[in-house]
Amino acid sequence: GGQGRLIVVSNRVALPDQTATGGLASAMRAALQERGGLWFGWSGKVARQTGGEVHRIKDGIVEYATIDLSRADHDDFYNGFANRTLWPLLHYRPDLVDYDRKHLAGYLRVNNLFAEELMSLIGPHDLVWINDFHLIPLAAMLRERGIRNRIGFFLHTPLPAAGLLIALPRHRELLETLASYDLVGLHTPRDRRALEEYFLHEVGATMRRDGRLQTPGGRMFRAEVFPIGIDTREVADSASHANEHEEIHQLRHSLEGRALIIGVDRLDYSKGLPERFQAYARLLERSPQLHRKVSFLQIAPPSRGGVPEYRQIRRDLERSAGHINGMYAAPDWVPIRYVNNSFAHDLLSGYYRTARVGLVTPLRDGMNLVAKEYVASQDPNDPGVLVLSRFAGAAQELGNDALLVNPADTEEVAEALGIALTMPLPERRARWRRMMDVLEKQDVTAWRNAFLQRLAQ
Ligand code: UDP
Ligand code: G6P
Repeated sequence: GGQGRLIVVSNRVALPDQTATGGLASAMRAALQERGGLWFGWSGKVARQTGGEVHRIKDGIVEYATIDLSRADHDDFYNGFANRTLWPLLHYRPDLVDYDRKHLAGYLRVNNLFAEELMSLIGPHDLVWINDFHLIPLAAMLRERGIRNRIGFFLHTPLPAAGLLIALPRHRELLETLASYDLVGLHTPRDRRALEEYFLHEVGATMRRDGRLQTPGGRMFRAEVFPIGIDTREVADSASHANEHEEIHQLRHSLEGRALIIGVDRLDYSKGLPERFQAYARLLERSPQLHRKVSFLQIAPPSRGGVPEYRQIRRDLERSAGHINGMYAAPDWVPIRYVNNSFAHDLLSGYYRTARVGLVTPLRDGMNLVAKEYVASQDPNDPGVLVLSRFAGAAQELGNDALLVNPADTEEVAEALGIALTMPLPERRARWRRMMDVLEKQDVTAWRNAFLQRLAQ
């Protein structure tokens, strides 16, 4: 570490004044705001050519350097290999994996371009922190160009077991490049075990006494668990000031005393939204006394609309919401409020605080920050209840005090909703306090420090 700067690299960058939808952007923004550093990545824009001009912005102690992607690179790298091959694979959906050599070539091309541009930004003592599945081979490409700095990698998604990873054509060429990092961070012990198993059995690596993995080629790296956190104090703070927003009053007013269930997710098939809608419908079916007494607000900003599977899930959800509302609505009651917009964090925290139940049911999720934000936003005197999928990384930390469910089990989720809606105050308080203790201790600052300290060692 020494006197160097921190250079964070990720495909998605949360530029100042932008709503950062996505856990990586939310967390990195919080992690950088206090420590400062340079954040390098995609500008979010498609232009005539990739790279070209580097857009530089300075905002306090954080500097941003972003580049555009060409249409072809955006299609092959982002829509193609990153989001149609790696994303479904990493989220245990081999059925949705679409592999195309052209997309892989685009992925490698963009990683090479990132490496080229980064070369001139990296000083000799800088710590380089590369993030997520878009940029797995980047360290190897920097090493080829002579970069000897400490380079860390953090995977914000789950990592499935080796038996699933090997379904990816040419998996070894890609995954073995992880050994070019000094440190690889993962969210949960399960993800770390998967990485270790893959390297031991597929790459033929060995585990050294000092805990590092060594490849047959002689590269050594460390893989460890760093569960990502949120800026707990900031979220709690803005939730307690939620009254200052007109939108929060409007939501409260519109509820007319009904209990609110809230879901907040990018519109992604990994989030278990169709299953969640079904579970809510099941709750209404089995609990007629709840009709007109409960309201479910699902905030689902569209994501990755250039990928067919995402357009499909959007159509499915529209149909499902319409169907359920058609079945149960009354002239003065709409059971599901389905909103395809994104909201800034300060408003979201007010929405979370208004909700008696936070419903977070991904089929698979690396961590899921929404679960943590929901808890941190609650009124300590009258907190709501978190219903949480056991397949979210967050279940590792909050599992004892959230109501854990299998999102595929409609009946179980409906039951959990019933329990959450009627849970007595003392129990709600006790559960909330214990979850909040974890979130206060393991916040985003602790996460960042733990990772960077380990990387600098
Ligand atoms: N988010 C937001 N506005 C929205 C919806 C989501 O700012 O309208 C944020 C949310 O607060 C959270 C992040 O996007 O910080 C989502 O992270 P999570 O880990 O839950 O899921 P991901 O999108 O990374 O899969
Ligand atoms: C997840 C991924 C991030 C990604 C985010 C939003 O959190 O782990 O890498 O940035 O989703 O997706 P997007 O494709 O819009 O960047």
